[in-house]
Amino acid sequence: MSQKKLDEPGLKNVSEFPIGTAVNINRLINDDALMSLQILNFNSITATSDMKMQSILPAENQFNWKKSDTILYYAKKHNQRVFGHNLIWHSSTPKWVEEKGNKDSLWLGEFMKDYIHKYVGRYKGKVAGWDVVNEAFESKGGAYRKTFWYNNLGKEYIANAFRYAHEADPDAVLFYNDFNIERDTLKLQAVLNMVKDFKKEGVPIHGIGFQMHIRMDTPDEVIAYSLKKAAETGLQIHLSEVDIIFNSHNDERLGGIENYSSITDEMKLAQEEKYKNLVLMYRRIVPKEQQFGITVWDFTDRDSWIKGFFNMKDWPTIYDEDLKPKPAYNGFLEGLKEKTKKK
Ligand code: XIL
Repeated sequence: MSQKKLDEPGLKNVSEFPIGTAVNINRLINDDALMSLQILNFNSITATSDMKMQSILPAENQFNWKKSDTILYYAKKHNQRVFGHNLIWHSSTPKWVEEKGNKDSLWLGEFMKDYIHKYVGRYKGKVAGWDVVNEAFESKGGAYRKTFWYNNLGKEYIANAFRYAHEADPDAVLFYNDFNIERDTLKLQAVLNMVKDFKKEGVPIHGIGFQMHIRMDTPDEVIAYSLKKAAETGLQIHLSEVDIIFNSHNDERLGGIENYSSITDEMKLAQEEKYKNLVLMYRRIVPKEQQFGITVWDFTDRDSWIKGFFNMKDWPTIYDEDLKPKPAYNGFLEGLKEKTKKK
């Protein structure tokens, strides 16, 4: 089969909303080829892990701003928006915080406040938005995840995290971010109920982040329905961690289920279509003024977190192992370029 010629004008240049990618900052700035693709395509940047608590505060009182400062410097130099990921996430809570917090929940409440004030305050006016709380609901269904934070502070920790972030930077756009909410309508409903409660109580929440780690068989109709329901809140909608896999997993580390060990041309074209449809759904369903942007989670199959995390082969992104644009790239681009009816 002859491959269509891929044109590559830079995604950000054909988009009405910011196009972002998550990166490992040291890896990025030490790889010229990667960096030129990053600059060509993206005008928003997120850290894959460099801005998580584990990285910012690995030991008590030892703030480590080196990587986050570098990201800010890089973003400024290349005219990119910085998106903060994330403030509170059970999977990136340092051991020392868990040990102390489990003994003393009053301390933990104060710690959380202080951490958010310091961190968001440091980057006030510079980080455009934050994932304030990440993955506070179970992988499936509508229950709160029984995390270290939940167990010690109750569900109120979520609202409080938003309050503290807002105090530190009243202009930052504050998101609740989670996965599977594009396909699990029970989980989505639980998030929407929380948003409703927050609005009633005056908790400052401004956006919903759909991580959007989807699979080729995640039905587009379900994704469309979920985007529509979320957009009805009037909040900003961010597709915050997009990738599209062929294999599957059980949502747990090393839980990959590998049905495909290689990728065919046919699979590449199907993925092109899936990327295109996702971008088109976002543009058609989410009103313009609520389009915070689309962010991909790593942008090359070489660097994607999927293989290491789930321990399986896959081809989730828009560039291949050799940093060549895949048909998926073209799909993304076409999705951005295609004329849609004005909202
Ligand atoms: C991932 C990073 O990409 C990996 O490098 C790290 O080992 C684990 O975390 N949902 C999230 C992201 O919100 O923070 C995760 O990032 C991917 C799933």
